[in-house]
Amino acid sequence: MIGIFDSGLGGLSAYKEVRRLLPGEDIVYFGDTGRVPYGTRSRETIIKYALQDMNFLTTKNIDAVLVACGTVTSTALDILREKYPGLPIIGVIEGAAKAAVGVTKNNRVGVIATAATINSRSFEKKLRELDPEVEIIARACPLFVPLVESGFISPDDEVTYLVAERYLADIRESGADTLILGCTHYPVISRSIARVLPGVNIISSSKAAAEQIAALYSHSDPTRQGRTEFYVSDEPCGFEQTASIFLETKLDHDVTRIDIEKY
Ligand code: DGL
Repeated sequence: MIGIFDSGLGGLSAYKEVRRLLPGEDIVYFGDTGRVPYGTRSRETIIKYALQDMNFLTTKNIDAVLVACGTVTSTALDILREKYPGLPIIGVIEGAAKAAVGVTKNNRVGVIATAATINSRSFEKKLRELDPEVEIIARACPLFVPLVESGFISPDDEVTYLVAERYLADIRESGADTLILGCTHYPVISRSIARVLPGVNIISSSKAAAEQIAALYSHSDPTRQGRTEFYVSDEPCGFEQTASIFLETKLDHDVTRIDIEKY
């Protein structure tokens, strides 16, 4: 069973890809909807939340974890790996950075993510490690997470479009030909982002990480139908609604509320 977690709905962008690549695997998803957002919080708080999320997932029969959260990957990935040695734990930075360096033609890459991720410079470090010459334009976009959590996810949504216009102006002016969506909530509104930056290669950190997870399950049986268990830490109703719109399918699995503070 694969464990996936995020502060809320964003990790569903990774879940969607993992489900597509590995239809036969069982998945347990936890969205910490009661404590979202993580990206505006302190390092200590993000680490505490991340450990509790992992403690919950490890009560399930998991054999790998996708940390479907740029903020947790930037802040706590090493700590989680130290606490759970032997359990493969994949974050969302490495795969996206590799994809961006592979695709950019003018070596100018934009990175958008939460404030915690941008301040940690995690993408910058990984990109420079891969290519010291790459020019990086980084920008925190804190309003995107509440927009997604509130269901403002239609590509025609004018509010989301206007916010994207404001946030992405510098990146458009910089001439970057590639943009990393460094927060897993952002692929949910990628069509609004693409409207502002036509012609720019948009790299989803969720998709790149899902491909890394899929590589661990290369012997997965595609004819089997994997089960999914969804858990959240607050009222499941809003999650169910927005998740169904984003996943383009009615959630035919129960969403269970848990008390994450117990873990
Ligand atoms: N989706 C998360 C990320 O990738 C967290 C967003 C938030 O909770 O602020 O950073």
